[in-house]
This record gives sequence, C-alpha cells and structure tokens, in this order.
Amino acid sequence: MSTNTTDDKKKVTTSRFISMKAKGEKISMLTAYDYTMAKLLDEAGIDAILVGDSASNVMAGNATTLPMTLDQMIYHAQCVSRGVERALVVCDMPFGSYQGDSLEALHSAVRIMKESRAEAVKIEGGSEVRESIERILSAGIPVMGHLGLTPQSINKFGTYAVRAKSDDEAEKLLADARMLEEIGCFALVLEKIPAALATRVSEELSIPTIGIGAGNGCDGQVLVVHDMLGLNKGFSPKFLRRYADLGTEINSAVGRYIDDVKTGDFPNASEQY
Ligand code: KIV
Repeated sequence: MSTNTTDDKKKVTTSRFISMKAKGEKISMLTAYDYTMAKLLDEAGIDAILVGDSASNVMAGNATTLPMTLDQMIYHAQCVSRGVERALVVCDMPFGSYQGDSLEALHSAVRIMKESRAEAVKIEGGSEVRESIERILSAGIPVMGHLGLTPQSINKFGTYAVRAKSDDEAEKLLADARMLEEIGCFALVLEKIPAALATRVSEELSIPTIGIGAGNGCDGQVLVVHDMLGLNKGFSPKFLRRYADLGTEINSAVGRYIDDVKTGDFPNASEQY
C-alpha cells in the first residue's frame, strides 16, 4: 500500500515545477473537475491538478473535447480551486478560446485567472498558437504547453492514434517544444508520442515535460482521474494503468443500497430520528 506525501505541505508553484525537474524529482499530476475529488487528490499529495477539457468526455458525456465552453471550464476550475491547498491548479483553455486571435486568447486567460483562482493555463499546439501564448505570458499568466496528440484537433487528424511517428512530425514537435520553452512556458504536456522522442524532448529542455502515453523519460506524468480510478471502463488504452476499480465498487454499493431499500432493511432503528 503506497503512502501519501502530505508531509510536504509546501505550496507547489510554477517555479517549484522547474526546480523539481532540476533536482530530478518526478512530478505527479491528475485531472479533477470538482471540489470533492480535488480535495482528495490534494490531501493525497498530488503535485498538480489539471482542470482538463476532458471534462467534456468524462463529466458531460461528449465524444470530443470541442463542445467545452470557457464558462464551463471556469466553473470546473472554481470548484477545483476551492478544494486545493497545496497542488498547482492548471486550467485548460477550451477549443475556440485562444486560436486565431491573440487578444481573445488573452481575455479568455484573464477570465480563467480572475474568476477561478487557477494558477496557470494549458494550451494545445505549437507554432500555430505562438502569438496567443506570447500575449498571455506577457500578462504574467503562466502557460503550460501541450504537444503530440492534441484532442482539440481531432477533426484535423481524424484519429486518436500515436502522433509524431514520422521524422517530419517528430522534427516539428521538437522545434515547437524548443520554441515553447524559449518564449517562456513553464512546462509541457507530451501526449501519446513515441517514448524515445519524449525522452529526447525532456533531455533537451530545462522546463519539465509531463507525459501521458509518452513513456518514462518524461519529467512527470498525468492521467485522467476517472480512467486511473476505473470509473471509465470503456476506455483502456495501452498507456493507462488502473489503480482502482471504483466503477465495480460503486455498482456493488448501489446494488446493496437498492436491495436494502426494497427489503425495508434501510433505514433501521439507529438510522432514524
Ligand atoms: O484534458 C485533459 O485531461 C488533458 C490531459 C489528457 C493531458 O489535456
């Protein structure tokens, strides 16, 4: 049974992220979308919580992340922030809130920071969104980049398969990663790319890389909390390790509750006034 790391109460900041990499300390990150889960993850000692636009899939039941709105992301980030004392809270910028117009990107990021108390934003993409990222950074808002599989571009790629397997795509990813570090991103998510490429990026950059399906050479790892807790049984990619089977636990608990209600066993004498 693993122990949590709550002995370390020191707040995780974006600069601490960078010094963790310098010290060779791996960074743990999970998604959360609500107060209760965020509080549990924070109390367990997670280093960072991503209010991911994967909320679109696991909270709202959509097939893609595209429908998520800025207001919805802010709502989820507000709920998460209320539950967190130590972890760094990073909020995804949703599809349509930053691409193409850097001023709109800045306004979207400012709303997230002002209204939700998130401490950083995450943006998918490289050179295509450079201007938006630079403008957000110029306002003192920390930005986490996201390269490789970028789910907001699913309609361009047509598949959630592993990215950057070709030399051309790997070269572009490397160039984008260098550029994101150069303009001032404090960290970089690498999603579903070959482990060797993720290791190379991690070795070249001084900002930390956080992998998901990108192998063990990254400086940290992130998973969608519903997937790793077994709440989302339909989703089992190769990279996913399940740490619990809460879907089965919930099913069994609810089944027992239904039986107890139907048989009149619940509530009993000690459970009433
Ligand atoms: O939205 C999300 O949960 C993410 C992670 C998968 C990195 O972007």
